[in-house]
Amino acid sequence: MTDLKLDGVRACVFDAYGTMFDVHSAAAACRDDLGDKADSLSALWRQKQLEYTWLRTLMKAHVDFWQITGDALDYAMAATDLEDAALREKLMSLYLTLKAYPEVPDVLSRLKDAGMQTGILSNGSPMMLKAAVDSAGIAANLDHVLSVEDVGVFKVAPQTYQLAVDRLSLAPSEICFMSSNAWDAAGAANFGFQVLWINRFNQPRERLPGVPKGVLSSLTPLPDIVTG
Ligand code: LAC
Repeated sequence: MTDLKLDGVRACVFDAYGTMFDVHSAAAACRDDLGDKADSLSALWRQKQLEYTWLRTLMKAHVDFWQITGDALDYAMAATDLEDAALREKLMSLYLTLKAYPEVPDVLSRLKDAGMQTGILSNGSPMMLKAAVDSAGIAANLDHVLSVEDVGVFKVAPQTYQLAVDRLSLAPSEICFMSSNAWDAAGAANFGFQVLWINRFNQPRERLPGVPKGVLSSLTPLPDIVTG
């Protein structure tokens, strides 16, 4: 239960990776191959993936998130002495069917039952997002699946959040944005969304502009916070 209530929300928009989908589920499914390096490889893969989004946006040298994800995996495999072409293919293929966090389907269906618009706004390429959404079986309860590919830069560039405003024809304050990535939550709050930071891993807050309206440990309380 939570006492937190957000007013004026007309759409709930979710970050994808880390928020709806468990980015560490790919390496977890290869534990037999990766052994005791599974967790360090997965953490480095994710960290490099994010760094490359920020760096390429600064360099004005955009490639899509699928390319970024492969480049980051190559770095992480080299850094952990795990270079192996077949294993690389297996991990990349698993990245298309990452596990959704267990509460996601029910939260989406409760939001739709309450008449809320729902969507994803992600760095992921359209191909990656379609694969993840289909694999999780949640397409029917998502009104919008928005990829930053439409603006050619990565979060936290304001154009990425503006994409949701434009596509949903809503004011920023009418959009409630959920992200487990604290830096994305900060970027979205700084842009003007009402933001809930889904702090799944009990991390400290970022020292950045943009303050979330609330902090949750999972998406479960969301429908009660934005409806009724
Ligand atoms: C995304 C990354 C930030 O889905 O997780 O946009």
